[in-house]
Amino acid sequence: MMINNSIKIIPMQKEHIKYIAELEKQCFSEPWSENALSEELSNICAVFFAAIVDNILAGYIGMHNICSQGYITNIAVFKQYRRKGIAGALLQKIIEYALDNNMEFVSLEVRKSNTPAISLYVKYDFKEMGIRKNFYSKPCEDAVIMTRYFVVN
Ligand code: COA
Repeated sequence: MMINNSIKIIPMQKEHIKYIAELEKQCFSEPWSENALSEELSNICAVFFAAIVDNILAGYIGMHNICSQGYITNIAVFKQYRRKGIAGALLQKIIEYALDNNMEFVSLEVRKSNTPAISLYVKYDFKEMGIRKNFYSKPCEDAVIMTRYFVVN
């Protein structure tokens, strides 16, 4: 079911932090804490967006813009909201931000076994650029580096 019309993508705010920390816990073995997420609110390099559906936080995306190079720190959607286009809408917002800000590329690491995430990035024209051996712990796993390049004007 697509619910694209009712998804609002807005900048991450203080009130979102506790829900995002919970989402992190549900998704990752080394989740970002509320403190780590709060620090991003005052980080001038941070570009973080929340996806809101019917006033509920359904997902989020974070990126660091370092000298016009984008590094996605995380993207996650609560289980009950998956396969409804929410991660796609979040990624699209980051791509629009990158284009508006003349960024060179947006890049990320993803666990080699994370087929849903890899399929998502492929759908949004990210290309596999290489492997970081044993990048992840708990459990130990290689990372695939995926990057979407933009033509810089
Ligand atoms: N299997 C295969 N492809 C999948 C998929 C799955 N389970 N889930 C998403 N995709 C791909 C598809 O190409 C999909 O397009 P389609 O629906 O037209 O086929 C595309 O991604 C967009 O899907 P969307 O509905 O926007 O994704 P989502 O909102 O369900 O979120 C994740 C996708 C990966 C963010 C979500 O599964 C999640 O939060 N996973 C846990 C956290 C995580 O692993 N984050 C990535 C860290 S690098």
